[in-house]
Amino acid sequence: MNPIGKASIRSHIAILMLGAGTLLVSQSGCRDQTPVASHYEPNYLFAKATEIGLSKEEGELEPTIQDSQNLLVEWFGTMEDPKLPSLLKEDDYSDLISEANLKIAVGTPKEPGIYIQQCVSCHGSSGQGRGTNAASQDPYPRDFRMGIFKFKSSPRTARPVKEDIEKVLRNGLSGSQMPLFNKLSDQEIQALVDYVVFLSLRGEFERRLIQLSATEWEGERLYDPSAEKSVLEGQLSNASDALTEIADRWVRSADAVEDFPRPSFPLVGTETDENKEELISSIEKGKVLFVSEIASCSKCHGVNADGKGNQLPDYDDWTKDWTSKIGIQPTDSQSLLPLMARGGMKPLPLKPRSIIEGHFRGGRTPEDLYRRIRYGIAGSPMPAAAVVESRDEPGLIDEDLWHLVNYVLSIANVPPPPMETKVVSTQ
Ligand code: HEC
Ligand code: HEC
Repeated sequence: MNPIGKASIRSHIAILMLGAGTLLVSQSGCRDQTPVASHYEPNYLFAKATEIGLSKEEGELEPTIQDSQNLLVEWFGTMEDPKLPSLLKEDDYSDLISEANLKIAVGTPKEPGIYIQQCVSCHGSSGQGRGTNAASQDPYPRDFRMGIFKFKSSPRTARPVKEDIEKVLRNGLSGSQMPLFNKLSDQEIQALVDYVVFLSLRGEFERRLIQLSATEWEGERLYDPSAEKSVLEGQLSNASDALTEIADRWVRSADAVEDFPRPSFPLVGTETDENKEELISSIEKGKVLFVSEIASCSKCHGVNADGKGNQLPDYDDWTKDWTSKIGIQPTDSQSLLPLMARGGMKPLPLKPRSIIEGHFRGGRTPEDLYRRIRYGIAGSPMPAAAVVESRDEPGLIDEDLWHLVNYVLSIANVPPPPMETKVVSTQ
């Protein structure tokens, strides 16, 4: 009935309760070295942060974690044998994740699949962003479990579309450790995209269960297969509602993608001898806007766009989630100890990018940069632009955003592409 086994869950909980950092760290470290672990690592960090954030007693969330792990195994399977919950097999979600692709991504213990071969060392077996190679990177590899992705075509708060994740895989993320995977077959790329969405959905669902049970469903069991039929049905229906909400955001993201027509003036790369002057004037306007109070790009990126603004150090949302959000300063290493023992990685300030170096991780077409400036970068302190309809209102009008795009492109170097991975297609 229960593929994880009660004893194994209990031992995990014991670690959680102990607060013995080294124990947990070495445990998860081992698990990532053995490529195919039998099950996914529970989100101890979020459970602990929730506990502290809600001033709960140490260990109060233990039954929640146990129940949520049992439910996750029932619905999403194990690391060796991932599956889709029946809800995600309904017609509404048929384009989201293919179960066959999950199998391609993880493979078998004898023949590990492409995610295990190429991604686990950085992103970890459950997409927690904490593989064996993660600690030395800056920024750290993405933790997929918050559902937040930075480089996408959809607005800041929307989920990405699958093509966005595909683009990240094919191009890599310039200036970070995220390599490019341009030698993989289309089938492998699709399998990886589906698996990233799967880990993200699963991880977000896990967080939601912990959060709901600690707040709205307080005192109620999350999932108790031995409960009376009507009670169990109520539990499963609560969980289904939570999962539906999460999955719907993914399904709706494509509708949120907007088209932005190019302006009447030329953009860098499209200028001709006749309109060159117009381009130069647009770049000049962009330069003025960049240091203006209203766009305030220079506050973070510096007046010379070299990434050296005078903003105080700030952190990404993955770090804030278990630090400032629960009232602990990311620099307060003493208070962070119990959280780091559960998987929190040493907080690193997220540096504003040097525009001059030209590492545009979200792509370097004018449209890519327009979206970056208009929407900001999800999960990072880079805000969305304050876009207004007319010059009479305080804010930036559409034209201003294109002037900024022109300025950014005019000063940026073209860096070499991210490193390719050595292992090529497994087919
Ligand atoms: C050597 C380490 C490394 C490997 C290997 C690696 N990644 Fe990454 N990945 C990163 C880092 C670092 C980031 C975050 C970069 C940033 O935030 O700027 C990242 C970010 C991502 C993102 C988030 C993009 C976004 O828009 O937020 C996805 C998706 C992703 N990686 C998928 C994968 C997949 C799938 C594989 C395997 C095919 C893989 N990565 C292999 C280091 C790695
Ligand atoms: C509050 C600080 C802040 C402000 C204000 C800000 N940025 Fe950023 N910006 C950042 C940070 C931090 C990053 C790096 C984010 C990351 O990679 O996670 C970034 C990244 C970028 C990038 C790289 C995008 C990519 O695809 O990799 C560009 C271009 C950029 N900013 C332009 C601008 C412009 C133009 C403005 C003004 C309209 C602006 N920024 C305002 C903090 C800021």
